[in-house]
Amino acid sequence: MTTETLVLQDTAAVARPRTVERLVAGMATSDGAGVKLTRVLTQPLQRRLDPYLMLDAFGTDNPDDYIAGFPDHPHRGFETVTYMIAGRMRHRDSAGNEGLLGDGGVQWMTAGRGVVHSELPEQQDGRMEGFQLWLNLPAKDKMREPWYRDIPSAEIPEFNADGVRARVIAGESHGVQGAVQREGSLPLYLDLHLAPGARFEQPLPAEHNAFLYVYRGGLQVGECSVPLQRMAILANTPGSDGIVLQAGAEPTRALLIAGRPLNEPIAQYGPFVMNSNDEIFQAVEDFRAGRFA
Ligand code: CO
Repeated sequence: MTTETLVLQDTAAVARPRTVERLVAGMATSDGAGVKLTRVLTQPLQRRLDPYLMLDAFGTDNPDDYIAGFPDHPHRGFETVTYMIAGRMRHRDSAGNEGLLGDGGVQWMTAGRGVVHSELPEQQDGRMEGFQLWLNLPAKDKMREPWYRDIPSAEIPEFNADGVRARVIAGESHGVQGAVQREGSLPLYLDLHLAPGARFEQPLPAEHNAFLYVYRGGLQVGECSVPLQRMAILANTPGSDGIVLQAGAEPTRALLIAGRPLNEPIAQYGPFVMNSNDEIFQAVEDFRAGRFA
Protein backbone atom coordinates (compact mmCIF):
# COMPACT_ATOMS: atom_id res chain seq x y z
CA MET A 1 0.00 0.00 0.00
CA THR A 2 1.28 3.45 -0.80
CA THR A 3 -0.16 6.70 0.38
CA GLU A 4 -0.67 9.34 -2.24
CA THR A 5 0.67 12.73 -1.39
CA LEU A 6 -2.11 15.20 -0.80
CA VAL A 7 -1.90 18.86 -1.66
CA LEU A 8 -3.84 20.91 0.84
CA GLN A 9 -5.12 24.43 1.02
CA ASP A 10 -3.95 26.32 4.07
CA THR A 11 -6.83 25.41 6.37
CA ALA A 12 -5.43 25.56 9.88
CA ALA A 13 -5.45 28.99 11.47
CA VAL A 14 -3.51 29.57 14.65
CA ALA A 15 -4.39 32.95 16.18
CA ARG A 16 -2.54 32.75 19.51
CA PRO A 17 0.70 30.82 18.88
CA ARG A 18 2.97 29.47 21.59
CA THR A 19 6.41 30.89 22.30
CA VAL A 20 9.65 29.02 22.90
CA GLU A 21 10.21 28.41 26.61
CA ARG A 22 13.71 27.02 26.34
CA LEU A 23 16.32 25.73 23.87
CA VAL A 24 18.10 22.48 24.70
CA ALA A 25 21.36 21.28 23.08
CA GLY A 26 21.22 17.67 24.21
CA MET A 27 24.08 15.56 25.51
CA ALA A 28 26.59 13.47 23.58
CA THR A 29 26.56 9.90 24.86
CA SER A 30 26.74 6.31 23.72
CA ASP A 31 24.35 3.44 24.23
CA GLY A 32 23.90 -0.18 23.21
CA ALA A 33 27.27 -1.71 22.31
CA GLY A 34 28.84 1.73 21.74
CA VAL A 35 26.56 3.61 19.35
CA LYS A 36 27.32 7.33 19.43
CA LEU A 37 24.26 9.52 19.78
CA THR A 38 22.91 12.76 21.20
CA ARG A 39 20.36 12.42 23.99
CA VAL A 40 18.11 15.39 23.28
CA LEU A 41 15.32 14.62 25.73
CA THR A 42 17.04 13.57 28.95
CA GLN A 43 15.62 12.19 32.20
CA PRO A 44 15.33 15.60 33.97
CA LEU A 45 12.90 16.70 31.20
CA GLN A 46 10.53 13.72 31.52
CA ARG A 47 8.11 15.52 33.82
CA ARG A 48 8.15 18.68 31.69
CA LEU A 49 7.62 16.78 28.43
CA ASP A 50 5.25 14.06 29.75
CA PRO A 51 4.18 11.72 28.00
CA TYR A 52 7.66 11.56 26.38
CA LEU A 53 10.57 9.93 28.20
CA MET A 54 13.50 10.20 25.83
CA LEU A 55 14.60 11.40 22.38
CA ASP A 56 17.91 10.26 20.93
CA ALA A 57 19.30 11.64 17.67
CA PHE A 58 21.97 9.75 15.77
CA GLY A 59 23.68 10.81 12.56
CA THR A 60 27.10 9.79 11.31
CA ASP A 61 28.98 8.69 8.20
CA ASN A 62 31.50 6.76 10.29
CA PRO A 63 30.60 3.06 10.68
CA ASP A 64 32.65 2.86 13.92
CA ASP A 65 29.99 5.08 15.50
CA TYR A 66 27.12 2.67 14.81
CA ILE A 67 28.34 -0.76 13.65
CA ALA A 68 28.01 -2.51 17.04
CA GLY A 69 24.32 -1.59 17.24
CA PHE A 70 22.05 -2.49 20.13
CA PRO A 71 22.34 -6.22 20.93
CA ASP A 72 19.64 -7.99 23.01
CA HIS A 73 18.20 -5.74 25.72
CA PRO A 74 14.84 -5.55 27.52
CA HIS A 75 12.09 -2.92 27.74
CA ARG A 76 8.97 -2.72 29.90
CA GLY A 77 6.23 -0.14 30.43
CA PHE A 78 6.44 2.18 27.39
CA GLU A 79 6.73 2.40 23.58
CA THR A 80 9.80 2.96 21.39
CA VAL A 81 9.41 4.78 18.09
CA THR A 82 12.41 4.60 15.76
CA TYR A 83 12.47 6.88 12.71
CA MET A 84 15.19 6.20 10.19
CA ILE A 85 16.22 9.13 7.99
CA ALA A 86 19.04 7.16 6.31
CA GLY A 87 20.34 3.66 6.83
CA ARG A 88 19.19 0.11 7.46
CA MET A 89 18.56 -1.46 10.85
CA ARG A 90 17.35 -5.00 11.56
CA HIS A 91 15.03 -5.56 14.50
CA ARG A 92 14.34 -8.91 16.21
CA ASP A 93 12.40 -9.43 19.40
CA SER A 94 11.40 -12.12 21.86
CA ALA A 95 7.75 -11.84 20.83
CA GLY A 96 8.79 -13.27 17.46
CA ASN A 97 8.72 -10.05 15.46
CA GLU A 98 11.40 -9.23 12.93
CA GLY A 99 11.71 -6.32 10.53
CA LEU A 100 14.10 -4.26 8.49
CA LEU A 101 13.94 -0.52 8.99
CA GLY A 102 15.07 1.48 5.94
CA ASP A 103 15.31 5.09 4.71
CA GLY A 104 12.32 7.12 5.86
CA GLY A 105 10.68 4.20 7.67
CA VAL A 106 9.32 3.97 11.20
CA GLN A 107 9.29 1.12 13.66
CA TRP A 108 6.74 1.40 16.46
CA MET A 109 7.16 -1.05 19.31
CA THR A 110 4.96 -1.28 22.37
CA ALA A 111 7.04 -3.05 24.99
CA GLY A 112 4.08 -3.41 27.38
CA ARG A 113 4.79 -6.12 29.99
CA GLY A 114 8.15 -6.88 28.47
CA VAL A 115 10.15 -7.48 25.34
CA VAL A 116 13.77 -8.39 24.73
CA HIS A 117 14.99 -7.12 21.38
CA SER A 118 18.02 -6.28 19.29
CA GLU A 119 18.49 -3.40 16.86
CA LEU A 120 21.47 -4.04 14.60
CA PRO A 121 22.74 -2.10 11.56
CA GLU A 122 22.43 -3.97 8.28
CA GLN A 123 25.13 -1.98 6.53
CA GLN A 124 28.93 -1.93 6.75
CA ASP A 125 29.40 1.66 5.62
CA GLY A 126 27.51 4.75 4.54
CA ARG A 127 25.33 7.10 6.51
CA MET A 128 23.18 6.12 9.48
CA GLU A 129 20.82 8.84 10.66
CA GLY A 130 17.60 8.84 12.63
CA PHE A 131 15.80 9.20 15.94
CA GLN A 132 14.49 7.06 18.74
CA LEU A 133 11.64 8.45 20.80
CA TRP A 134 10.23 6.86 23.97
CA LEU A 135 6.53 7.38 24.58
CA ASN A 136 5.23 6.48 28.02
CA LEU A 137 2.23 4.20 28.50
CA PRO A 138 -0.55 5.03 30.97
CA ALA A 139 -0.51 2.86 34.13
CA LYS A 140 -3.43 0.77 32.87
CA ASP A 141 -1.50 -0.22 29.71
CA LYS A 142 1.99 -0.80 31.10
CA MET A 143 1.49 -4.56 31.42
CA ARG A 144 -0.42 -5.04 28.16
CA GLU A 145 0.71 -7.51 25.52
CA PRO A 146 3.65 -6.29 23.41
CA TRP A 147 2.80 -4.86 19.97
CA TYR A 148 4.92 -4.07 16.98
CA ARG A 149 4.57 -2.47 13.58
CA ASP A 150 6.98 -1.64 10.78
CA ILE A 151 5.85 1.32 8.71
CA PRO A 152 7.84 1.61 5.45
CA SER A 153 8.39 5.13 4.18
CA ALA A 154 5.75 4.79 1.43
CA GLU A 155 3.07 4.07 4.05
CA ILE A 156 3.63 7.19 6.11
CA PRO A 157 0.81 9.62 5.28
CA GLU A 158 2.02 13.00 4.09
CA PHE A 159 0.84 16.22 2.52
CA ASN A 160 2.25 19.29 0.81
CA ALA A 161 1.14 22.83 1.52
CA ASP A 162 2.85 26.12 0.64
CA GLY A 163 6.44 24.90 0.50
CA VAL A 164 6.01 22.42 3.33
CA ARG A 165 6.06 18.65 3.06
CA ALA A 166 4.63 17.18 6.24
CA ARG A 167 5.01 13.48 7.12
CA VAL A 168 2.42 12.47 9.68
CA ILE A 169 3.87 9.61 11.73
CA ALA A 170 1.32 9.89 14.56
CA GLY A 171 -1.74 11.97 15.35
CA GLU A 172 -3.43 14.27 12.85
CA SER A 173 -2.37 17.36 10.92
CA HIS A 174 -4.42 19.48 8.50
CA GLY A 175 -7.00 16.69 8.20
CA VAL A 176 -4.43 13.97 7.47
CA GLN A 177 -4.45 11.02 9.88
CA GLY A 178 -1.03 9.71 10.86
CA ALA A 179 0.21 6.13 10.64
CA VAL A 180 -0.37 5.53 14.36
CA GLN A 181 -3.03 6.83 16.77
CA ARG A 182 -3.04 6.48 20.55
CA GLU A 183 -5.84 7.22 22.96
CA GLY A 184 -4.98 8.98 26.18
CA SER A 185 -1.61 10.54 25.34
CA LEU A 186 -2.77 11.56 21.82
CA PRO A 187 0.75 11.68 20.39
CA LEU A 188 1.48 14.01 17.48
CA TYR A 189 4.67 13.20 15.58
CA LEU A 190 5.39 15.22 12.43
CA ASP A 191 8.50 15.36 10.25
CA LEU A 192 8.40 18.73 8.49
CA HIS A 193 10.45 19.56 5.39
CA LEU A 194 10.30 23.29 4.69
CA ALA A 195 11.52 25.33 1.73
CA PRO A 196 13.46 28.48 2.70
CA GLY A 197 11.03 30.92 4.33
CA ALA A 198 8.10 28.47 4.30
CA ARG A 199 5.62 28.71 7.18
CA PHE A 200 3.70 25.98 8.95
CA GLU A 201 0.86 26.13 11.47
CA GLN A 202 -0.31 23.35 13.75
CA PRO A 203 -3.32 23.80 16.04
CA LEU A 204 -2.70 22.23 19.45
CA PRO A 205 -4.47 22.39 22.84
CA ALA A 206 -2.53 24.57 25.31
CA GLU A 207 -2.21 21.75 27.88
CA HIS A 208 -0.43 19.37 25.50
CA ASN A 209 3.33 19.35 25.92
CA ALA A 210 5.23 20.06 22.71
CA PHE A 211 8.74 20.39 21.37
CA LEU A 212 10.61 20.85 18.09
CA TYR A 213 13.93 19.38 17.02
CA VAL A 214 15.73 20.94 14.03
CA TYR A 215 17.92 18.53 12.03
CA ARG A 216 18.52 20.60 8.86
CA GLY A 217 18.67 24.39 8.46
CA GLY A 218 17.02 26.50 11.13
CA LEU A 219 13.62 27.77 12.27
CA GLN A 220 11.98 30.87 13.58
CA VAL A 221 9.24 30.52 16.23
CA GLY A 222 7.89 33.97 17.04
CA GLU A 223 10.86 36.03 18.23
CA CYS A 224 13.04 32.98 18.83
CA SER A 225 15.51 31.46 16.37
CA VAL A 226 15.87 27.71 16.75
CA PRO A 227 19.23 26.67 15.29
CA LEU A 228 20.36 23.34 13.89
CA GLN A 229 20.48 20.42 16.34
CA ARG A 230 18.52 22.17 19.05
CA MET A 231 15.31 21.17 20.74
CA ALA A 232 12.84 23.98 21.41
CA ILE A 233 10.45 23.33 24.29
CA LEU A 234 7.23 25.20 23.51
CA ALA A 235 5.50 27.09 26.31
CA ASN A 236 2.06 25.84 27.43
CA THR A 237 0.79 29.41 27.37
CA PRO A 238 -2.79 29.45 28.72
CA GLY A 239 -5.19 30.39 25.92
CA SER A 240 -2.71 29.55 23.15
CA ASP A 241 -4.17 27.56 20.26
CA GLY A 242 -1.18 26.14 18.42
CA ILE A 243 2.25 26.48 16.92
CA VAL A 244 3.51 28.67 14.08
CA LEU A 245 6.99 28.13 12.70
CA GLN A 246 8.93 29.44 9.72
CA ALA A 247 12.07 28.17 8.01
CA GLY A 248 15.09 30.44 7.80
CA ALA A 249 17.11 31.06 4.64
CA GLU A 250 18.00 27.39 4.15
CA PRO A 251 15.91 24.31 3.40
CA THR A 252 14.91 23.11 6.85
CA ARG A 253 13.77 19.88 8.44
CA ALA A 254 12.39 19.52 11.92
CA LEU A 255 10.42 17.11 14.07
CA LEU A 256 7.34 18.50 15.79
CA ILE A 257 6.29 16.24 18.66
CA ALA A 258 3.43 16.81 21.10
CA GLY A 259 1.13 14.89 23.40
CA ARG A 260 -1.31 15.07 26.28
CA PRO A 261 0.48 14.56 29.60
CA LEU A 262 -0.38 11.39 31.55
CA ASN A 263 0.24 13.10 34.93
CA GLU A 264 1.20 9.82 36.59
CA PRO A 265 4.29 9.02 38.68
CA ILE A 266 7.36 8.06 36.60
CA ALA A 267 9.80 5.46 37.98
CA GLN A 268 12.66 4.59 35.63
CA TYR A 269 15.51 2.15 35.92
CA GLY A 270 17.31 1.98 32.57
CA PRO A 271 14.99 0.31 30.05
CA PHE A 272 12.12 -0.17 32.54
CA VAL A 273 9.66 2.69 33.09
CA MET A 274 6.87 2.07 35.59
CA ASN A 275 4.91 4.09 38.17
CA SER A 276 6.58 2.92 41.40
CA ASN A 277 9.85 1.46 42.70
CA ASP A 278 8.07 -1.77 43.62
CA GLU A 279 7.05 -2.20 39.99
CA ILE A 280 10.65 -1.54 38.94
CA PHE A 281 11.98 -4.23 41.33
CA GLN A 282 9.36 -6.58 39.89
CA ALA A 283 10.47 -5.75 36.32
CA VAL A 284 14.12 -6.50 37.13
CA GLU A 285 13.13 -9.76 38.85
CA ASP A 286 10.84 -10.82 35.97
CA PHE A 287 13.58 -10.06 33.43
CA ARG A 288 16.22 -12.01 35.38
CA ALA A 289 13.85 -14.95 35.75
CA GLY A 290 13.22 -14.96 31.98
CA ARG A 291 9.56 -14.00 32.35
CA PHE A 292 9.54 -11.45 29.49
CA ALA A 293 7.70 -12.52 26.34
CO1 CO B 1 15.51 -1.00 22.49
